[in-house]
Amino acid sequence: RTLRIGLIPGDGIGREVIPAGRRILEALPISLGLKFSFVDLDAGFETFKQTGVALPEKTVETLKKECDGALFGAVSSPTTATKGYSSPIVALRKRLDLYANVRPVKSVAPTPAFPDPIDLVIVRENTEDLYVKEEKTYSTPNGKVAEAIKRISERASSRIATMAGDIAVRRQRVRSSTGDTSGKQAVVTITHKSNVLSQTDGLFRETARAALSQSHFQDAGVQIEEQIVDSMVYKLFRQPASYDVIVAPNLYGDILSDGAAALVGSLGLVPSANVGDGFAIGEPCHGSAPDIQGKGIANPIATLRSVGLMLEFLGQEEAAARIYQAVDGNLAEGKLLSPDMGGKAATEEVLEDVIRRL
Ligand code: NAI
Ligand code: MG
Repeated sequence: RTLRIGLIPGDGIGREVIPAGRRILEALPISLGLKFSFVDLDAGFETFKQTGVALPEKTVETLKKECDGALFGAVSSPTTATKGYSSPIVALRKRLDLYANVRPVKSVAPTPAFPDPIDLVIVRENTEDLYVKEEKTYSTPNGKVAEAIKRISERASSRIATMAGDIAVRRQRVRSSTGDTSGKQAVVTITHKSNVLSQTDGLFRETARAALSQSHFQDAGVQIEEQIVDSMVYKLFRQPASYDVIVAPNLYGDILSDGAAALVGSLGLVPSANVGDGFAIGEPCHGSAPDIQGKGIANPIATLRSVGLMLEFLGQEEAAARIYQAVDGNLAEGKLLSPDMGGKAATEEVLEDVIRRL
């Protein structure tokens, strides 16, 4: 099977790590029976400066018509309000209905603060909640007041919880097939604040519960837990090892997933995927890192793991597992690490070590 992958490096170190993502795909063992073709696509602040648009229509159309999946590097945001500029990744999520943002967080090695291995996934709803951006400001005798709509729908809550359930089942399957001894169970933790926001978060909570109660999830042993978002933050930082899959509405998910990335050290390790039905874009969580741009020392691991995630959502679990194992091998040995990890290796050297392990 040939998968066609759109490559959108974007700005800064995006142009250094996305080529590494392509190389790992090309290096996958032939025995997997997978082939790839690539198409280079533009987006980002540089593109905006050259053409006046951050997300060219050609990029969207090519992704829609030709591609099975894509890799997105990072984009720089203008430091001052820039007329006509809006984030291309936010627009892409909307145009392609990539309704889930999936962010796995995995520790490299035990630390005094976290002796147990951290291995969790945050599944963030990506289309609604406060991010519908329906805001208004008006004047009152006591000064201005600003308001924003928080919209929660049954449809969006149901499909995000179903995706979280699917991920929990898949993780459990991988744990059993690799003889994992952590004793970890398939658990989806629904995060909300329905004690205060009984209608909006109440609907999210009820709908997510109903979706996860479907018989195929129950038969697969998926347990449903709940956590009020503020106590979730506390527990996430006290006992991160106790979580498996966390599902949350947009705003809480945004905050939790950036926070969780801090649990494992460098931003250069943390991947993500923007996922819809039948399409996935892998995207490292970090930005364009202007401070190290052009030096050839960006950590490619967040991108390599994002490649794995993209493959997982395109139904290529075996290929994804190979990449994760190769990356984990590099980190466990700890000999060829990039500077953000306390090592001296260049992007290219880390990549070559991971490819060798494939
Ligand atoms: P950043 O993630 O670009 O960098 C933060 C720090 O982490 C820097 O010291 C950087 O060198 C380091 N770092 C990040 N990725 C790394 C990697 N792969 N290897 C080694 N070190 C790495 O965030 P910052 O500096 O706040 O933002 C820079 C630009 O990126 C801004 O224009 C911002 O708007 C944009 N940005 C874009 C994102 C995206 O495209 N999704 C996400 C975050 C920021
Ligand atoms: Mg964020």
